[in-house]
Amino acid sequence: MAQDELSAEAIRQGLPTAFMGQRVLYYPTLVSTMITAKEEAKQGAPEGTLIVAEAQSGGHGRLGRAWVAPPGNLACSLVLYPQAAQLPYLVMAAALALAGAIEAVTGLRPALKWPNDLLLGGRKVSGILVESGTMGGEACYAVVGIGLNINMRAADYPEIEGIATSLSDELGQPVSRLALLREFLVQFERRDMTLSQSTAVWTEWRARLTTLGRAVTVRVGEKTCAGTAEDVAADGGLLLRLADGTQQKFAAGDVTLR
Ligand code: BTN
Repeated sequence: MAQDELSAEAIRQGLPTAFMGQRVLYYPTLVSTMITAKEEAKQGAPEGTLIVAEAQSGGHGRLGRAWVAPPGNLACSLVLYPQAAQLPYLVMAAALALAGAIEAVTGLRPALKWPNDLLLGGRKVSGILVESGTMGGEACYAVVGIGLNINMRAADYPEIEGIATSLSDELGQPVSRLALLREFLVQFERRDMTLSQSTAVWTEWRARLTTLGRAVTVRVGEKTCAGTAEDVAADGGLLLRLADGTQQKFAAGDVTLR
């Protein structure tokens, strides 16, 4: 399959969503889709506005880390206006929707790793980044960024070789970015619409987390903490049982399986 087109028209044409991806801004290059999406949010862009970039010169992940996204992959951000109480659930809904889209399009079933990674064969295939802000008063916007390795050879990039993979690496053939993105938009909207009414997203996310029940090390800045990843709290925080029997909660951090 030749590299498929990710034009705004192709993404939107007949897309069966109410708002997610109904407005698409497509750019050959951007510094970061997160930056552009935040600018759009501050200007009151319609909910579900999708920013897609073929390449990013300053793509970033959690904790300000650089995000490597060679051509053939997916780099995009969505503008949303959730209630503040729903913010912690966006990353869960996005992870589940992305995993569901990957499964529907490729048959591969990614594992979910706390807090925001999708793994295939133990290697990272996708990362999700949620950034939010206030717009005066109580109103709040959130930008949900998706980086998904689709058509690339991870072995060609020394900075991620051994720790990352792509869908084409796993399948041995190219995968349609368009089909994946459209399926993701449908699945994400479906889950996003339930966020105010139930804890279904948290329950589904918790059940899919590969991290739980495992002996792990959590690193936060210079500090590391070893223990058993016992559970996740209702706000998504990781509950770690330490050797001395006490429990510690982490809102963020890097988890390594021991
Ligand atoms: C992570 O694993 O830390 C999250 C990575 C998120 C990367 C995506 S690529 C599209 C969007 N634009 C960015 O600059 N970052 C996110």
